[in-house]
Amino acid sequence: MSALPRHVGIIMDGNGRWAQLRGQPRLEGHRIGAESVRDITRAARELGLEAITLYAFSAQNWARPADEVRGLMDLLRDYLHDERSEIMDNQIRLHAIGDLDRLPASVKQPLDALRQDSAGNRGMVLTLALSYGGRESLAAAAAALARDVAAGKLDPRTIDADRFGAYLPTAELPPVDLLIRTSGEQRISNFLLWELAYAELMFVDVMWPDFRRNHLYQCLEQFAGRERRFGLTGAQVAGSDSDVEAGDA
Ligand code: FPP
Repeated sequence: MSALPRHVGIIMDGNGRWAQLRGQPRLEGHRIGAESVRDITRAARELGLEAITLYAFSAQNWARPADEVRGLMDLLRDYLHDERSEIMDNQIRLHAIGDLDRLPASVKQPLDALRQDSAGNRGMVLTLALSYGGRESLAAAAAALARDVAAGKLDPRTIDADRFGAYLPTAELPPVDLLIRTSGEQRISNFLLWELAYAELMFVDVMWPDFRRNHLYQCLEQFAGRERRFGLTGAQVAGSDSDVEAGDA
């Protein structure tokens, strides 16, 4: 269990290609992709992960064709409606990051309601990145920090990485240990730019609509086999392991 990541971020890529390969409209890929969201969320909760963050709609996705944007918003609305009891029954806390004011009321209202109603849940935190961009998130944090400096509430000499990180909407979440991107593309695409600092990156050659819990288990198995050094040497990491073991003994 100790080899499990605390927080997994997922770039759910490949919905459009999955549909096109089958001669179907892109939205069909998103619809089946929403089923993958359900399966992965359930599996993550059952495994006892502390947090998962799903890149569901980027700040740049607003520029897609209007019918695709509308279809994605309808899927999100339906998801929030259909998953409400699953989220509440399983002690999941719903969180959202991004420019949420841009979302249509049909999504924003159920999102706000479920965030509020699930705020006391102490199981896993499910974060939906919606209208989200990592650079935009960093710029918003820098603006908030500058406002606090200008108001005399923050001494600029005390700003370090921890203090800056506290201005991000992910501040309450554990560090991202593992990033999974499906569809074979090897890019970060403006997702969690700050938060991924020490994440293990995994690029999986499976389109998101096909990505189900068995693929997640395989990623977790690979994660458990990786050596994470956080800037230390391999010998230092190995030394701290044997110290822990000696201490335990
Ligand atoms: C990327 O694939 C995926 C998206 C832009 C949307 C992700 C949305 C869902 C999985 C469904 C709704 C979400 C929830 C939380 C219920 P792409 O369209 O860029 O695929 P492509 O690269 O093959 O075109």
